Amino acid sequence: MTDTATKEPHTGSANTYPNLIGGREIASENTFESRNSSRLDDVLGRFPEATKEQVREACEAARETFKTWSRTPAPIRGQLIGQIGKALEREKESLSRLVTREMGKTHKEARGSVQEAIDTCQFFQSEGRRLYGQTVPSEMPRKELNTYRRPLGVVGIVTAGNFPIAVPSWKIIPALVTGNTIVWKPSEDAPAVAYAFAKIIEEAGVPAGVLNVVFGGGKGAAGEFLVDMMDEGLLDKFAFTGSTAVGRHIGEVAGRNLLHPTLELGGKNPLIVMRDADLDNAVEGAVFSAFGTGGQRCTSAGNIIVDAPIYDEFKRRFLERVKQIRIGDPNEHDDVLYGPFINQRFYENWQKHYEWGGSEGATLLHGEGRIEDGKAPEGYVGDPSAAYYGWPTVWEGVKPGMKLFQTEVFGPTINLVKVDGIEEAVQTANSVDYGLSSAIYTNDREWAHHFKENIEAGMSSINNTTVGAEAHMPFGGVKGSGNGTRESGIWVIESYTYWHGVNDDVSGKLQLAQMDTEYVEPKGEVDVANLF
Ligand code: UN1
Repeated sequence: MTDTATKEPHTGSANTYPNLIGGREIASENTFESRNSSRLDDVLGRFPEATKEQVREACEAARETFKTWSRTPAPIRGQLIGQIGKALEREKESLSRLVTREMGKTHKEARGSVQEAIDTCQFFQSEGRRLYGQTVPSEMPRKELNTYRRPLGVVGIVTAGNFPIAVPSWKIIPALVTGNTIVWKPSEDAPAVAYAFAKIIEEAGVPAGVLNVVFGGGKGAAGEFLVDMMDEGLLDKFAFTGSTAVGRHIGEVAGRNLLHPTLELGGKNPLIVMRDADLDNAVEGAVFSAFGTGGQRCTSAGNIIVDAPIYDEFKRRFLERVKQIRIGDPNEHDDVLYGPFINQRFYENWQKHYEWGGSEGATLLHGEGRIEDGKAPEGYVGDPSAAYYGWPTVWEGVKPGMKLFQTEVFGPTINLVKVDGIEEAVQTANSVDYGLSSAIYTNDREWAHHFKENIEAGMSSINNTTVGAEAHMPFGGVKGSGNGTRESGIWVIESYTYWHGVNDDVSGKLQLAQMDTEYVEPKGEVDVANLF
């Protein structure tokens, strides 16, 4: 294997960046740092901890600009979305490198994630020329019925750090094209990418105050302050990607304010391998589903459910492949499968799962916690003390009742679960409290059909991984993975608009539906038996 040396990550000037409120750059007294997740001594910049007052100002600025932005013709809003897409294409390489540097994705994946934002812009630029309503026939003469899509108003958005540009684009782009204005609190784990994205949106010509960005943490900080703005009546919609616990709280606050939030929450995604599967393909798919992005996708696989007759052979091939996984600094090595944890917090949360596995009686087949000098897997390259890296970890003997089976870990770890036959496989897959993504490897049409019909998930793949949803398909889950809202494609438009039904009566007189309608009475009964 060769290491393709890529451009050296440039060391940051560690500037302090502002909140972006109403077209102005607003500093906060307290700041936090964003660091290169692969080289913790490399500071990308300092970002403000927005105060509650600043978050409120951002909402007020968004409310003010809503008046003009919502009246800007939708095709013009779409044109601006096209310009954002073009700017993203121009900056794709630099943005991808920034994603790799800040979040720790491989360069290939980082480019894919920027492409996902570009695809989103390309999809929605012409939506500005559609945003179709309907003409509906009236039961009255000289009266017309029409439906219009109307924007909701001010949208509060909180996003996670693992997809710092793609996932925000799924919310920001459709919210903008449909005429809403935004207050966005990006993840404190990837503020630099968020800042760059906001600057690109500004460069494209989106007017000041349409997208406002407030930085900071979640609990007791900007994220929580933004949630509080629902109770202050300053938001008309909330969109969140993150944990199920926080999502439930946001859902409660939104509910008492009669808002319908978009909630994209956790997952513990099953990948089933049946006895007839193409094993080489299944092993490759399982390795990427479990360890791609270091397991830090909400679509990463959590349980690999393997049909008994091929269990031993699958396990042998899978472990062989796991032992070869290349891990290291993705800024320097193009051939690694995954890089570091986003930061210490992600590492510490992952580390805890070793205790559950041990106490529940699961068997550890591979993995020794944090990668350190003298305790590194064969495929590790570089200096492990520069950041937090995790061993690719594999468990077996995992059963549905165990915490290891049920809980999203968000790191490089996977459970092998043995089952017998398609019915037990799907039943086992459904015994988690989540239902985001899912996959099956089989060439049997009946089994694939059984899986499609019975799996409890918002997204399913047949002979492909649990990850990699395309940008124009509905993204979202069932059960603990969300509240049924969908992002992307035509489906997301429902989340950022309401339907306005309009009656236009030109008859010049009072005519009341159902009461003045000239219904026609039947003339009598035809008795077909007596006709011939
Ligand atoms: C996420 O992890 O929050 O389907 C999003 C995928 C990507 C998006 C993941 N297109 O894996």
